Amino acid sequence: MKICIVGAGYVGLTASVALARSGHQVITVEKDKSRLNRLRQGVSTIYEPGVNDLLRAEEVKGKLTFTDTLVDGLADAQIAMVAVGTPSLSDGRIDLTAINEVCQEIACIARSRLIVVMKSTVPPGTGKRLCERFFSSCPADIRYVSNPEFLREGSALHDWYHPDRIVVGSSDLGAAKDVLTLYEDIEAPKLVVSVASAELAKYASNAFLATKISFINEVANLCELVGADIEEVAAALGQDSRIGHKFLKAGIGYGGSCFPKDTKALDYVSSFNGYTFSVLKAVIEVNVRQRIRAVHKLSLTLGGLGNKRIAVLGLAFKPETDDVREAPALDIINYLVSEGATVTAYDPVACENARKHLAQGVLICEDPYDATRGCQAILVATEWDEFTTLDWSRVKQQMREPFLVFDGRNCLDAERLRSLGFLYIGVGRGYGLARVTAE
Ligand code: UGA
Repeated sequence: MKICIVGAGYVGLTASVALARSGHQVITVEKDKSRLNRLRQGVSTIYEPGVNDLLRAEEVKGKLTFTDTLVDGLADAQIAMVAVGTPSLSDGRIDLTAINEVCQEIACIARSRLIVVMKSTVPPGTGKRLCERFFSSCPADIRYVSNPEFLREGSALHDWYHPDRIVVGSSDLGAAKDVLTLYEDIEAPKLVVSVASAELAKYASNAFLATKISFINEVANLCELVGADIEEVAAALGQDSRIGHKFLKAGIGYGGSCFPKDTKALDYVSSFNGYTFSVLKAVIEVNVRQRIRAVHKLSLTLGGLGNKRIAVLGLAFKPETDDVREAPALDIINYLVSEGATVTAYDPVACENARKHLAQGVLICEDPYDATRGCQAILVATEWDEFTTLDWSRVKQQMREPFLVFDGRNCLDAERLRSLGFLYIGVGRGYGLARVTAE
């Protein structure tokens, strides 16, 4: 099939290289000139394992090209896949400006039969409104399909080829079937549903995963009060196949471009429709509190934050990405600075992206040993392998008392660190605030 993909962000570029590799003829529209130039030279604009290699290979084969105009992109295309940004507004609403502009342009340009596939995450009801506003009055035969993505950053290509399900929402069964042919080479349950159901399925999936995280974080907080260990509790919980082990990792909370935005947007959509989604509100609140709680724990253990030197290891919202959007580390660093602490920070790949979000005076270091030199406390905010395999004896030698390591992702070997003389605290690791402060 000839596919025009609009937008070369995480979703658009992953879809572009994957669909080209599946044998489709793909042309991707990227309006930003410098990104376009890099893509045309075979250089990926996102940090995503495997994407760069596929990009080069498919460009060389001529299966994937890039343009900056929709007119070029849509020429001969049978499918227009929309993958542009849907940022959050301060009240939780989704800013649909880019979606509206692209759909309006497609409606103006399209001359023959075209299927518009919505890949961007848009609130339930959006597809219906887009059809009413732009496509139903369009002289070309435009059919609309919602086809949400469930890709994780850092493993987007793997998730593309091994999805748990493919969801296609449309009121036109023929269009839905045509879109499913894009995934002929992928083995997964394929669900054809209504547009609104597909849209809500995407939000509900992310909200449910976020719920698991906030739930386990609350259990972890309780562990600290009753002397239980969240790793043991989660292992026992996850053994129940109805619950499962995934997304039961306690820590300083979820971040990224999806969970924070999607939970707030779903809360807004619920309220807008006259419904109070109480569980979701609690999930969001717990996630905010978890960051503040981290600062509180550091403060209690250090006897205040004024003039304390704290190293934060990890700035990305999770490992294997340079994405710092809504990363817990950034909020925590800025709280620490406003409480008078001196903060040094290090991340294997996200330093540049983080810089503009950090308070003045935060020193970003070239390596973890520089970052931790002379500090009284370390917060591990992202579970990069580099931190689990750090030479912790070396770190200890150059730190100052009380040699505090706050493992915000429960990724370190607690017993080993304690045996090296660190004051180790994690999240819910049977080592409550009461015990820490008593020592
Ligand atoms: C998430 C979903 O997992 C994808 O299915 C979805 O397609 C994507 O959002 C999206 O909507 O585009 P992603 O944001 O890449 O993917 O990251 P996740 O791996 O889901 O992690 C999100 C956050 O949750 C991270 O900050 C991570 O540290 C945190 N997390 C995850 C926990 O705190 N505990 C866990 O057990 C799991």
